[in-house]
Amino acid sequence: MTLPTTTIPGADLYETYFVPAMFRPLARAVLKRAAVKEGERVLDLACGTGIIARQVAPVVNHEGRVVALDARAEMIETASKLTVPYGCPIEWKVGDATRLDAPAGSFDLVVCQQGLPFFSDRATALAEVRRVLAPGGRAVFAVWELELAEPAELRRGLEAAGFRDVELERQTIDVGLSAEALVESVVNTVAPLLAADHVAMRTLLRQATFPMNTHIALAR
Ligand SMILES: C[S@@+](CC[C@H](N)C(=O)[O-])C[C@H]1O[C@@H](n2cnc3c(N)ncnc32)[C@H](O)[C@@H]1O
Repeated sequence: MTLPTTTIPGADLYETYFVPAMFRPLARAVLKRAAVKEGERVLDLACGTGIIARQVAPVVNHEGRVVALDARAEMIETASKLTVPYGCPIEWKVGDATRLDAPAGSFDLVVCQQGLPFFSDRATALAEVRRVLAPGGRAVFAVWELELAEPAELRRGLEAAGFRDVELERQTIDVGLSAEALVESVVNTVAPLLAADHVAMRTLLRQATFPMNTHIALAR
C-alpha cells in the first residue's frame, strides 16, 4: 500500500489509509467475536471514523440502535459524512469513554476496537462500559498485542470493573502495511490525531511483528 507523505494529521487520512490497512481487517475478527444480532442496541466506543458502527447498523437493522462515540470531534465529523449504510441510523456523538452520557443498562453490546490503550483512565472507562450494559449484555475489546504488557492485564482490568465471565483470544491479523510504513506514517499522521506521545509510539511500533497480533476479549 502507498502511504501519503503529508504530515498533516486528519481523520480523512485515517479513514483513507489506516482503516483499510489495519482496522477493517481487525473489525472482521472483532465482529465475529461480537456475534451481533438483529434488534440489538450497540455502542461503538472510541469509534474513530466508525468502521465498527457502519458494519453493525445493517445487522441490528431498523429494530436495533447504534451509537458511535469518540473523544475527537474531527473523527466524528469525518465519520458522519461517509456513506450511510443500510439499517438503523447511526447516532454519532463526541464524548469521553470515562464519562458516558447514557443511562445504566442502555446497550446489549459495547464494542471497543483499539480504543482502550488511548484512555487516560482505563479503570473508569471499563466501569462505565459495565454500567451502560443491560443485564446479560456483553462487551468486546480489541488491543494490539504490542500495546499490552500481558493479556492477563486485560483480564484483570475487566474483572476489576465487575465483569465475571471474560474470554480472551489471540488472533493474527494480516495488516496491509509494512513495518517501515507503519512506524513513520502512524507517528506523523495518526499519532497527532490520537493525541498520542510520538516518541513512545515510535518506540512501541518498532517492536511490531508482522502480521500483527491482537488480543480480543469478550466480557460479560
Ligand atoms: C486507534 S483509534 C481506533 C478507532 C476505531 N475504533 C477504529 O477501529 O478505527 C483510537 C480512538 O480512540 C479515541 N479516543 C481516545 N481517547 C478517548 C476517550 N477518552 N473517549 C473516547 N474516545 C477516545 C481516539 O480519538 C481515536 O479515534
